[in-house]
Amino acid sequence: MRKIGLVGWRGMVGSVLRKRMLEEKDFELIEPFFFTTSQAGQTSPVVADEVYTLLDAYDLKALTDMDVIITCQGSEYTNDIHSKLRNFGWKGYWIDAASALRMNDQSVIVLDPVNLSLIQESLATGIRDFIGGNCTVSLMLMGLGGLFKANLVEWATAMTYQAASGAGAKNMLELIHQMGAISSSVGTQLDSPEFGILDIDETVTQCLRSAEFPVDSWGFPLAGSILPWIGDAKENGQSGEEWKNEAETNKILGNIESAVSLDGLCVRIGAMRCHSQALTIKLRKDIAITDIENLIDESNSWSTIVPNEKDATLEGLTPAAVAGSLTVPVGRIRRMNIGRRYISAFTAGDQLLWGAAEPLRRMLRIVLDYLD
Ligand code: HSE
Repeated sequence: MRKIGLVGWRGMVGSVLRKRMLEEKDFELIEPFFFTTSQAGQTSPVVADEVYTLLDAYDLKALTDMDVIITCQGSEYTNDIHSKLRNFGWKGYWIDAASALRMNDQSVIVLDPVNLSLIQESLATGIRDFIGGNCTVSLMLMGLGGLFKANLVEWATAMTYQAASGAGAKNMLELIHQMGAISSSVGTQLDSPEFGILDIDETVTQCLRSAEFPVDSWGFPLAGSILPWIGDAKENGQSGEEWKNEAETNKILGNIESAVSLDGLCVRIGAMRCHSQALTIKLRKDIAITDIENLIDESNSWSTIVPNEKDATLEGLTPAAVAGSLTVPVGRIRRMNIGRRYISAFTAGDQLLWGAAEPLRRMLRIVLDYLD
C-alpha cells in the first residue's frame, strides 16, 4: 500500500476531507500517516477504527518517506516545507489545498471533472505538484464547465456571493455571534406592538455600529450587511479573489494561447458554507437555451439544471438547499435583453466540498491509479 501523509487534517477543510475519505473508503486503499505541526507523539482521533501516533509535520525525513502528501495546512506551511522537501530530493506527489503553489509552472490546478486529461498528461510528463483551485473558480467550472469546454464563452463576468466558510472556521462562528447579537439587541421589541419596524430597524443599525458588536475576525459587520471585498488589493483595482477568476480558470482549462476573459466583483455575504455566483456570459455564437442547458447538465455528474422558474429556483438554487451536497445546480439561465449572445446564469455550490476538499480526495485516487 502507498504511504499517504496527511497534514492539516484537523482543520475545517481537513475534517471535510477525512469525512469524504471515510465515506468513499479511501483509507482502505492507503497506509495513512497523520502529521501535526504542534502535537507530535500524541495520538490521532479514531480514523477508520484505528488510532495513529502523530508525526512531526516539520520532520523532513518522515515526510520524504511518503509516496503522497496531502496538506490542508495552509500557504504558510506550504511555503516553508515544499521547497525544502524538493531540495531534499523528495519525488513524491504533493496535493495541496492552499493557494501558494497554484500558479507555479510546475503545478497543475486539479478539478478532474473538468480537467482530467490535463492532469493525466501532467502525471505522464513528471509533474508532481497538484493543487486545489480557488473555491469560487472551482465551483463556477463545476457548474458551467460545459460551456467553457465547448469553447462557447467569449467572456464572462462572475459576481459572487461568498459564504463565511471561505474565510475559515473562526469567521463562521463570528457570523453566528453577530446574528445572535442582532437578535438580542431587539429582544422583546420584536413581539411588542408599540415598536414599529422602523424602531426595530434603528435598534439593529445601532447594534451593527456599536463598539460591542463582535467583529474580531471580520473587522466589520457581516450579519445584516455584506462585505464587498475579499482578499488583498491588486494594483489594477481588483481584489485578490477577483484576480484569481481569470488566471485560475484558464490554467485549469489549459488555455495557453486563447485565454477566456473573466472578471467580476467578489462579495462576502452571510451564508455559512455555500458560495453562489451570478454570471453574465457573452457566447461566441447564438445557440438555443436548451442546447446550453444540455451542455451544462451533461458536462459532469454533479452539475444540474434548475429550470428558470420562481418556485424551482427558490427551492433548489440557494445555499440553504445546497449545503453539504456535491450537487452544483445552475439556474436563472436566460437570454438577456442586451443581445442574443448574452445569457445570464446563477450557480451555488458547497465551498468545503467541490470548493476545497473533494478535488484533493479525487486527486489522491488518480495518483494511486497512476502508480499502480
Ligand atoms: N478565498 C475564498 C474565500 C476561499 O475567501 O471565500 C478559498 O478558495
